[in-house]
Amino acid sequence: MWDDLHPVGRVASTGGYRRFALTGEDHTLHEWFAEQSVRRGLDLTSDRMGNQWAWWGNPDEAPGQGVVIGSHLDSVPDGGAYDGPLGVVSAFAVIDALREQGFAPDRPLGVVNFVDEEGARFGVACAGSRVITGALDADRARGLADVDGVTMAEALRAAGRDPHEIGRDDETLRRVGCFVELHVEQGRALADLDPETSAVAIGTNIWPHGRWRIDLPGMANHAGTTRLEDRQDATLLAAELVLAARAEAQRHATVATVGKLRLEPGGVNAIASHATVWLDSRGPVEADVRATVAALSDETAQRGGTIVEESWTPTTAFDAGLVSQLRQVLGDEVPLLGTGAGHDAGILATAGVPTAMLFVRNPTGVSHSPEEFAEQDDCHRGVAALTKVVQDLAAGAGSSPDQAGPS
Ligand code: GLV
Ligand code: MN
Ligand code: MN
Repeated sequence: MWDDLHPVGRVASTGGYRRFALTGEDHTLHEWFAEQSVRRGLDLTSDRMGNQWAWWGNPDEAPGQGVVIGSHLDSVPDGGAYDGPLGVVSAFAVIDALREQGFAPDRPLGVVNFVDEEGARFGVACAGSRVITGALDADRARGLADVDGVTMAEALRAAGRDPHEIGRDDETLRRVGCFVELHVEQGRALADLDPETSAVAIGTNIWPHGRWRIDLPGMANHAGTTRLEDRQDATLLAAELVLAARAEAQRHATVATVGKLRLEPGGVNAIASHATVWLDSRGPVEADVRATVAALSDETAQRGGTIVEESWTPTTAFDAGLVSQLRQVLGDEVPLLGTGAGHDAGILATAGVPTAMLFVRNPTGVSHSPEEFAEQDDCHRGVAALTKVVQDLAAGAGSSPDQAGPS
């Protein structure tokens, strides 16, 4: 499976991946997922947002019973190979392992590929899971635009899809009894623990996090002939905001990142008439993230700019019953890990689906970068852990800590 995925969207110069929603690369990855499903005799469906679900067993015969594993295949710009794909590849490997063992699940098993998890193109992370759970309004999703001004509706049409099909999908969610997303670790929490017992961790919660778009005004003028005191330079305002983000994050014990900004008109010899700064802020305490952004809103207003919230996800705790079931299955010595990264698992948890995560050790601790890594042995340990978990969850209706579907 890794050999198939290796070349898709790979940037030769960096070794990173560019796999963005509704592009040719995305299409290739969806075809790959479909092929893997068909090869295993799984029933493949796509929901209203285009998330792919491959079922072993009929989830409509046992509503609210489906045990779902999987993740996403899209990436951030020049992202690593593991963030997302490790969860999807592992899910298929779990199906193979269960079949080799002759396991006959009592509950339907599903493998999911969520679309547009990173929000790299249209700005809203986890758009696939947000739309089907209703956390992202379909009208708003259709109107989101990429940097070239192409809206999601236009991109859907270009991909041969009807933009009006997207929306909340209760029929799909009714099938899901629980969701366990395996993911590469995105920090160095596990690397320094006992190597014998820390290849895999159980996720406990996701930090509150959000994205904001800040627009700052300027006036285009000549880079050579305009006196410094006469300039209205949007770039300078953007630079001040970037530094303020760092200072406010420090003050409020959060993190704040400007990883993307755009200057218009973008000429080397022209003063910028407009700057757009995208802010990502997160932290362990919701009020502190809010305070960070409130301070930056003031800084923006003082400079005549505007700030708009593009997405917000409150603190997400994974299902306590499911987490303790995972601990029973995998052993109390398995580390517990909170994370500052967002995941579709968090969106499903907020929608009322009993959800948990497994993290596979990343010795570099680096993620959203070509340096992202996991040792092959650790990946196998991740598959073995997820196999045990699924075996336990899918053996006999009634073994789930919470069989209720999403509320
Ligand atoms: C997704 O990986 C995010 O945390 O931004
Ligand atoms: Mn990611
Ligand atoms: Mn991910």
